[in-house]
Amino acid sequence: MEQRRAAITAVGHYLPEDRLTNADLEKMVDTSDEWIRTRTGISERRILKDPEKATSYMAANAAKELLEKRNLDPAEIDLVIVATVTPDMFFPATACLVAAEIGAVNAWGYDISAACSGFLFALSTGARFIESGKHKKVLVIGADKMSSIVDYTDRTTCVLFGDGAACALLEPDTDGYGVMDSIEHTDGSQWSFLCMLGGGSLNPPSPVTIEKKWHFLHQEGAPVFKAAVKGMADVAADLVEKNGLSGDDIRFLVPHQANLRIIDATARRMGITMEKVMLNIERYGNTTAATIPLCLSDWEPQLRKGDNLVLAAFGGGFTWGASWVKWAYDGSSD
Ligand code: ACO
Repeated sequence: MEQRRAAITAVGHYLPEDRLTNADLEKMVDTSDEWIRTRTGISERRILKDPEKATSYMAANAAKELLEKRNLDPAEIDLVIVATVTPDMFFPATACLVAAEIGAVNAWGYDISAACSGFLFALSTGARFIESGKHKKVLVIGADKMSSIVDYTDRTTCVLFGDGAACALLEPDTDGYGVMDSIEHTDGSQWSFLCMLGGGSLNPPSPVTIEKKWHFLHQEGAPVFKAAVKGMADVAADLVEKNGLSGDDIRFLVPHQANLRIIDATARRMGITMEKVMLNIERYGNTTAATIPLCLSDWEPQLRKGDNLVLAAFGGGFTWGASWVKWAYDGSSD
């Protein structure tokens, strides 16, 4: 019998219906469909327009889809981890709201803040609770309502982000499937390139923080791009090398969807062709913590038991990491 690992045994997702297309953005800021597509790979994104609904709504709907697909009683869930940088509120944690909404009455939960690496950090953390034997069912969710912190007068950021949520269920496996290995990094020395300055204990909300637009996401695209290309490609290559894998062993690279050019660089560095890269940035833009599980959910029907997946992300913090997952079930059998 192999060691106990955390296998992904189900996935689910939720995307708001409203679409914000490049043509819509052309009417809002000085940009063009051509610029956005060639510089980022994005054509449209989903936006949660209802002002009374927030990240927990999308996260709970993703979880409900997963529970329904597996015909699972929510009372069986032991732990809910929500990765997000757009929690409904500072506190309580979004995980508390989600657990209550889905009826996970026996679960505890908390949020993880690691921007675009959030899902990977949550996956890594959730996996430890399974591997240790403490829990049997851990729900890991990546969810962000980016439209709530995007300045739709700033063309350098508003074209990039979208809203969405997706999740994965982790259960114990002793047959050699699941989260095989992962590498995580943070470097807080470069935090100011990608941040939201206002609202926290450093700059509590005030007329001044509003006037300075500190309640919006701030990004200096060029230094983040440079760090992301290197960080994501390096960490994915390190993980693959550490585990003696080659490009041929990998069924899919599952990259964070921030920019097609960053993804392309990572794939080339790993020696894999773009047919083996999960890509949905064109349809959803950058949904921050949701991008990777949204890919898993979109590609689920194609995935087969034993497929090697390399998940990789880079984001604000800076944070970055990669996980090697051996897929645990045939997508079509569900
Ligand atoms: N439309 C038209 N022109 C634009 C737009 C736009 N939407 N946005 C910027 N430009 C202009 C700039 O003003 C600049 O013009 P200038 O030369 O006259 O000053 C020019 O285009 C080039 O700007 P750059 O910022 O150098 O463009 P770049 O090619 O770097 O692309 C981008 C910008 C897409 C943001 C890129 O830098 C990027 O992808 N960065 C990394 C994003 C990322 O990975 N983030 C981490 C994850 S997100 C998270 O953690 C929450």
